[in-house]
Amino acid sequence: MAKDPVRVLVTGAAGQIGYALVPMIARGVMLGPDQPVILHMLDIPPAAESLNGVKMELVDAAFPLLKGVVATTDVVEACTGVNVAVMVGGFPRKEGMERKDVMSKNVSIYKSQASALEKHAAANCKVLVVANPANTNALILKEFAPSIPEKNITCMTRLDHNRALGQISERLNIQVSDVKNVIIWGNHSSTQYPDVSHATVKTQGGEKPVKELVCDDEWLKGEFITTVQQRGAAIIKARKFSSALSAASGACDHIRDWVLGTPEGTFVSMGVYSDGSYNVPAGLIYSFPVTCRNGEWTIVQGKLVGLDNLIDLEPAQEISLILKEKLG
Ligand code: NAD
Ligand code: LMR
Repeated sequence: MAKDPVRVLVTGAAGQIGYALVPMIARGVMLGPDQPVILHMLDIPPAAESLNGVKMELVDAAFPLLKGVVATTDVVEACTGVNVAVMVGGFPRKEGMERKDVMSKNVSIYKSQASALEKHAAANCKVLVVANPANTNALILKEFAPSIPEKNITCMTRLDHNRALGQISERLNIQVSDVKNVIIWGNHSSTQYPDVSHATVKTQGGEKPVKELVCDDEWLKGEFITTVQQRGAAIIKARKFSSALSAASGACDHIRDWVLGTPEGTFVSMGVYSDGSYNVPAGLIYSFPVTCRNGEWTIVQGKLVGLDNLIDLEPAQEISLILKEKLG
């Protein structure tokens, strides 16, 4: 029997990431090849015409799984009844800026959209914040939508996770699908810590640690980490726009694994509220290794090896606590 459609909200849908993301969702990349979807696309009035153009293209693409499109500049209409919300709307940074430099613009957006989601989304709606600074926007959303369960509000560090997998596969000249269990700790910012201590590579005889195969600690502790930390800036420098197709793909991976589960023996990185694990202050949105089952994530324990410096309060989140007081 055909499944009921799932309503998926994409904010900032007329933007770069939105344009890459909505066809992926409509093709089943996010929720599976047998899951019909209804897309809710929100943008601001100056982008209304462009948003309508995206809607026209979605119709023209004749996606079999796409059962309806709501394209609107009205936040209440956009949020009504949604089961999944991918929050992309906001301002991207430009060359030379840090992600936290767009904070004042984007944080106020997340405050107002939090209440629309809280009042109008479906019960148990899963929220993924993509817009920067992603951890802080998610924290603001969580603070201003107190009736949404905190476990339902997450931010995206899957792009960083995938970047780390990509760097290892290039270095070892192997398929990226054979690498797993890298970890992104912390914020989606240049203070994140990409960690391969538990990462493995599939080999003919089983699995081997990435550390053993790379056999170059200097690279793993140096260039590998800075490349992943600075990849967003490198893309902006090269494209003059921030990453879009890889961000859209990361968003699909994040929601797919959250809803459909992580493969046995595999963990992924998600920005989730801290329950105090690894001594990260409870309530902050922090990227941990997680596994997912039955639509719920669980932080994987016991994976911190000699990385005691990870548990500092990150600058963006400190600022977010101050902003929270101000906005309150
Ligand atoms: P973009 O400028 O191309 O698109 C953003 C869209 O958001 C625009 O269409 C804009 O009109 C819209 N928008 C602005 N305010 C809005 C509001 N209040 N409600 C709804 N829509 C609104 O930017 P982009 O390249 O698509 O990037 C979007 C965000 O995602 C940026 O903040 C960027 O830094 C961030 N990003 C995050 C990651 C990650 O890994 N977490 C990766 C890439 C980009
Ligand atoms: C990225 O990581 O590509 C995004 O966060 C965009 C940025 O500003 O780096």
